[in-house]
Amino acid sequence: MNTKALQGQVALVTGASSGIGKAIAIAFAEAGAKVGVNYRSSAEDAEQIVSGIREKGGEAVALQANVAKEDQVQRLFSELIETYGTIDILVNNAGLQKDANFIDMSLEDWQLVIDVNLTGQFLCAREAAKEFIRRGVVEERSCAAGKIICISSVHEKIPWATHANYAASKGGINMLMRTIAQELAPHKIRVNSIAPGAIKTPINRQDWENEEAKAELLNLIPYQRIGKPEDVARMAVWLASDDSDYVVGETLFIDGGMMLYPGFAEG
Ligand code: BGC
Repeated sequence: MNTKALQGQVALVTGASSGIGKAIAIAFAEAGAKVGVNYRSSAEDAEQIVSGIREKGGEAVALQANVAKEDQVQRLFSELIETYGTIDILVNNAGLQKDANFIDMSLEDWQLVIDVNLTGQFLCAREAAKEFIRRGVVEERSCAAGKIICISSVHEKIPWATHANYAASKGGINMLMRTIAQELAPHKIRVNSIAPGAIKTPINRQDWENEEAKAELLNLIPYQRIGKPEDVARMAVWLASDDSDYVVGETLFIDGGMMLYPGFAEG
């Protein structure tokens, strides 16, 4: 009997060379998955994650691609499938911020964020879904034909001044996820999102690297701690596993209560 939740399954985690993606790649390998560790430019970091996984007896491979580029995404999936034969789980994690006051936001910075955060998820989900449908359910591995996890953000709901491009990309992920969840569910494909709040990663370094910024951030978190990438990774393992088999088209928030309008806590 499999004691590991993802035993024998093949997973691809985009943007896995740091932060939440890195933690998910490591947790998936610990849960028994063979993991494609996608990176865009940090080859050394990705290789280090792969070595760490292999040292613990896991299986992983580093795969370069910019998820915003159709030809690179197609190559990424070919390489993964060549290496491990198929794919069972996609984690659409790659994302970035390019913050600016709205009236100063360049079209270039708008487009870059939409291209990576939203179009990247579309391109990867499409390739994964093609393979899930081609292959169908393999019962020894999972009762689903495939799982797609979209990494969103509390900002798919919470508006965020000076982050119009980022918040729009995350709002877009919500309807992309729910629409393809509806379309793909009859093929036994489960599509869901994880929407993290403030997780301590390089993307929000300026919000936790000094005490003043950290105190300000904690004002937004009723649970009074900044999240860890491993908090999100544990949720991702569950959402990718058959333990969550009836969860379809949902966004799971993981934010220490950030969605509870803490500004209203005093009544
Ligand atoms: C952003 C972080 C931010 C968090 C909470 C995330 O989506 O990437 O920079 O700390 O939301 O506001």
